[in-house]
Amino acid sequence: MATRKPLVVGNWKMNLDHREATYFVQKLAWLLRDAHFDYDDCDIALLPPFTSIRSVQVLVDADKLNIRYGAQTVSVTAQGAFTGDVSADMLSALGCTYVLVGHSERRRYYADDDALLVDQVRAVLAAGMTPILCVGEGYEERREGIELDYAVGQVDDITRDLSEEDAAKLIVAYEPVWAIGTGLVATPQSAQDAAAAIRQHFTHIYSAETAQKIRILYGGSVTASNATLLMNEAHDMDGFLVGGASLQAEEFASIIRLTL
Ligand code: G3P
Repeated sequence: MATRKPLVVGNWKMNLDHREATYFVQKLAWLLRDAHFDYDDCDIALLPPFTSIRSVQVLVDADKLNIRYGAQTVSVTAQGAFTGDVSADMLSALGCTYVLVGHSERRRYYADDDALLVDQVRAVLAAGMTPILCVGEGYEERREGIELDYAVGQVDDITRDLSEEDAAKLIVAYEPVWAIGTGLVATPQSAQDAAAAIRQHFTHIYSAETAQKIRILYGGSVTASNATLLMNEAHDMDGFLVGGASLQAEEFASIIRLTL
């Protein structure tokens, strides 16, 4: 029987500067305290833009908040003449726990390819952080009815050379591209089917024990209105990767509470 703790992650994308981030974290902490939120029941994480990470860290440390945080991408090199890059060790030094790898916006707008994503996973793990690997089909693959093979294929492309020990540390986010920022949300059944197919893949490649350890999130137009249904009916899913609805502390706090 799985004993995975639910996880709700807010991917702010390129939103909330360091002042807005400070206000957000103060408000979220207040809302959760007011709701007598039990931090032992759910992991919470925020993925701010690079420039806001330090602000989140300061508040989390000062108030001993049980909120984790991380980054939306990372360099695959350790240091040196790579203008504009931020290394995994720099993120780790800021207390980051998670780093997104392979978000569809990175794959699309920055042409992040499989070779880069494989190296990012390695860099994140080597720095002691947890990669959140994003996969998911577009309209085309869904129309052709190959969405499960496509998502599992993306997982395999990035993880096939990982040791079982490293694979057990992964988090996978199933985010169908057609659902991101569109208001279209996967049905609980299709979210469950994708999560089950991904878990089955890990069982096949590694072992049932390892597959049961890996948390699988759903992302794509998650809101406080659809979180309960998704959580209740998609049993292989362990929480959410939330975009737009993570920018308002009230709604994000509601999603967290509904995930329990
Ligand atoms: O990473 C989260 C994501 O891409 C989903 O975005 O705005 O549809 O919740 P959104």
